[in-house]
Amino acid sequence: MNLQQQLAQFPRLDLVGSATPLEKLSRLSDYLGREIYVKRDDVTPMALGGNKLRKLEFLAAEALEQGADTLVTAGAIQSNHVRQTAAVAAKLGLHCVALLENPINTQAENYLTNGNRLLLDLFNVEVVMCDELHAPQQQLEALATRLEAQGFRPYVVPVGGSNALGALGYVQCALEIASQGKDVAFSSVVVASGSAGTHAGLAVGLQQLLPESELIGVTVSRRAGEQLPKVEQIQQELARSLGLEQALAPITLWDDYFAPQYGMPNDEGTAAVQLLAQQEGLLLDPVYTGKAMAGLIDGIAQGRFRDDGPILFVHTGGAPALFAYHPQV
Ligand SMILES: Cc1ncc(COP(=O)(O)O)c(C=O)c1O
Repeated sequence: MNLQQQLAQFPRLDLVGSATPLEKLSRLSDYLGREIYVKRDDVTPMALGGNKLRKLEFLAAEALEQGADTLVTAGAIQSNHVRQTAAVAAKLGLHCVALLENPINTQAENYLTNGNRLLLDLFNVEVVMCDELHAPQQQLEALATRLEAQGFRPYVVPVGGSNALGALGYVQCALEIASQGKDVAFSSVVVASGSAGTHAGLAVGLQQLLPESELIGVTVSRRAGEQLPKVEQIQQELARSLGLEQALAPITLWDDYFAPQYGMPNDEGTAAVQLLAQQEGLLLDPVYTGKAMAGLIDGIAQGRFRDDGPILFVHTGGAPALFAYHPQV
């Protein structure tokens, strides 16, 4: 069985539809002196796009199979993941409950009410605030138990949709990249690495399909030492669930670009957001893709990539947060 057939064995809703575009960024390539391509997962078709829809194809299918009537998930007030989960819940006629934290402790009006948070109200999400998501899975289970006591049938979507089931969505993305990039030999693929499902799914898929490309996860939340076990755990579970038996590809993490902390913009990320807007008319975001692109740009400047070949940037979305992070947090 090939990878596509293995993937087809899992129950899945069709939410993403046809492949997202894969495009060359010509002006940025000229500017950086390197061929740069982008995989446009920022334009997945629901609710302003982003990477979570791919994971939700599998997670929401399981929720429906289990007879759930409510999706419960967690994240930052400006979580893109929660916004996309809420949109899927609305589309499926499910209730949605979101456990939210304010990871940067800001009282900035736009952070608290605009961007992704504004859309949660539009999707009629029941928002539960907490001081901190210190143990999110346990906190979500506790919330699910409370909802059950109220008569709901909740399905817990893990933070970021990141478990082996959700990460199947990024095996699908790897299949698309391999087929759309047939005429380009990508030396390197760059992606933001947060709750780690996107990175792990690409790691498993690309190892099978484009073994010559190096995959680099630019961390957006934590140091490599803490991020590595998160990526590897999902990578291992995912490979097992797909029946893959060979040794797993080593995981590469660059952790020099997320400071000062998750959810807090930095100058290099902001400069990358401005550069892509002005060179390509392409919107990145201050929390994930701006920092990942800052890593790509600095990686070229510092000669960190394996060679001088074409680089693919996996654009995971997040632009709705631009409105929340203005004027400043
Ligand atoms: C825009 C954006 N990019 C990247 C990520 C990171 O993906 P993952 O959590 O799968 O590592 C997220 C996660 O929320 C996101 O919203």
